Amino acid sequence: MFFSLKYALLVSVLSLSCLVTERLAAAELPQDEVDALNLISKKMGVNGWNFNAGSCGDYLPRVRPTDPERNISCNCRIENSTCHIVSLKLKRFSLAGELPPELIQLPYLESIDLSYNYLNGSIPSEWASLKLKSIALLANRLSGNIPSYLGNFTSLTYLDLELNQFSGLIPHELGKLVNLKTFVTLVFLEIDVNLSCRILSSNKLVGDLPMELGELKNLTDFRINDNNFNGSIPDFVENWKQLKRLEMVASGLEGPIPSSISALETLTDLRITDVNITDQSFPDLSNITGLSRLLLRDCNLSGEIPSYIWEMSKLRVLDLSFNKLQGELPGAVTTETLVFIFLTGNLLTGNIPDV
Ligand SMILES: *[C@@H]1O[C@H](CO)[C@@H](O)[C@H](O)[C@H]1NC(C)=O
Ligand SMILES: *[C@@H]1O[C@H](CO)[C@@H](O)[C@H](O)[C@H]1NC(C)=O
Ligand SMILES: *[C@@H]1O[C@H](CO)[C@@H](O)[C@H](O)[C@H]1NC(C)=O
Ligand SMILES: *[C@@H]1O[C@H](CO)[C@@H](O)[C@H](O)[C@H]1NC(C)=O
Ligand SMILES: *[C@@H]1O[C@H](CO)[C@@H](O)[C@H](O)[C@H]1NC(C)=O
Ligand SMILES: *[C@@H]1O[C@H](CO)[C@@H](O)[C@H](O)[C@H]1NC(C)=O
Ligand SMILES: *[C@@H]1O[C@H](CO)[C@@H](O)[C@H](O)[C@H]1NC(C)=O
Ligand SMILES: *[C@@H]1O[C@H](CO)[C@@H](O)[C@H](O)[C@H]1NC(C)=O
Ligand SMILES: *[C@@H]1O[C@H](CO)[C@@H](O)[C@H](O)[C@H]1NC(C)=O
Repeated sequence: MFFSLKYALLVSVLSLSCLVTERLAAAELPQDEVDALNLISKKMGVNGWNFNAGSCGDYLPRVRPTDPERNISCNCRIENSTCHIVSLKLKRFSLAGELPPELIQLPYLESIDLSYNYLNGSIPSEWASLKLKSIALLANRLSGNIPSYLGNFTSLTYLDLELNQFSGLIPHELGKLVNLKTFVTLVFLEIDVNLSCRILSSNKLVGDLPMELGELKNLTDFRINDNNFNGSIPDFVENWKQLKRLEMVASGLEGPIPSSISALETLTDLRITDVNITDQSFPDLSNITGLSRLLLRDCNLSGEIPSYIWEMSKLRVLDLSFNKLQGELPGAVTTETLVFIFLTGNLLTGNIPDV
């Protein structure tokens, strides 16, 4: 009885999955999207790929993390038996040439990932007509200013421009991207074929962070490491109440670290380093109890390390090196998670906590 019930369940699961596969297999890409896909890949220098009406779900798996990765994902429920490409990933293929404006011939596209290629030029303004939610262009050779028309890409929730060669100011129009959750930009490194990092150019983003960025209330992740911004770390960071990760490592921004940072209670990762200021006190982080990484290196912080730091129960990495911190280190540290601790270049006494 027990066995037959189990068997019956198995059979019904199997037949259900057959049905689903059949329906998906029957649904095909319309010819104009097939043509667009072939045109786009050809424009980016791809040879020997030939997409067809059955290319939905095409997936080139990677064995090692450094292998190329291809994933063409479709939505086959938008209209009757027709599929539409909603997500396109062509990662680590050494693709060259410019980003193809022809992408707009995939009108249902929501997500594009062309990371780790050699694509140059800039982001085509034509793409504004798509309802893109996610753009990942990490590690390419894009250059010039970050275009102001990116502010028209209002569906964006994810924008990663890290490891490119953008320069100039951050356009204030980016403040219109109110759905944005992740914004990453870092500009001076380039990844070569062997995936080792090397410094190529010192083209960097400059100017201050436009106050319009304060409107990005859905941000969870903001990283502007290794840039040449000037001006102070803005007070408006306190608007980013959903923020989990804030990284301003050698961003060029000056101190002080605004006291409004205390309000970012959901932060798990806070990294601010190389802040130009003669003296500032330790920011009040007492309500940010979920911190896992805290880096406040080379910020000219003075005074003592607040005792609540040693009570943060999720803290794994603590780097407060190269400040002017003084006082005695606690004999016993209660946090069990702490695995890395850097306090060099201070005026502290006592022993490094035994972690
Ligand atoms: C391909 O991409 C889609 C959409 O992002 C994703 O849901 C799916 O898991 C990916 N397929 C594989 C095998 O990684
Ligand atoms: C989808 O099917 C419905 C009902 O059969 C029909 O009215 C509609 O025109 C079809 N849509 C397309 C785009 O073929
Ligand atoms: C992009 O790269 C291609 C081929 O490598 C080159 O012909 C083209 O001039 C480059 N465009 C820009 C804007 O750098
Ligand atoms: C961006 O949107 C504004 C206002 O809707 C419009 O005037 C402008 O032409 C758009 N820019 C681009 C490049 O699409
Ligand atoms: C934030 O995201 C939600 C949905 O995730 C959206 O409804 C809202 O309009 C977004 N923007 C702002 C400014 O809250
Ligand atoms: C900040 O950078 C901008 C753009 O390079 C420049 O015009 C401005 O004078 C700089 N401001 C300060 C205070 O250095
Ligand atoms: C921490 O939270 C408490 C309770 O909500 C509040 O009274 C206090 O002002 C907060 N401290 C800081 C530094 O934000
Ligand atoms: C730090 O700030 C001072 C005064 O604003 C300026 O003269 C100096 O060049 C800055 N140093 C760095 C490394 O930015
Ligand atoms: C830190 O403060 C000292 C003076 O106490 C000053 O000479 C030094 O330039 C400051 N460092 C930075 C990075 O601002």
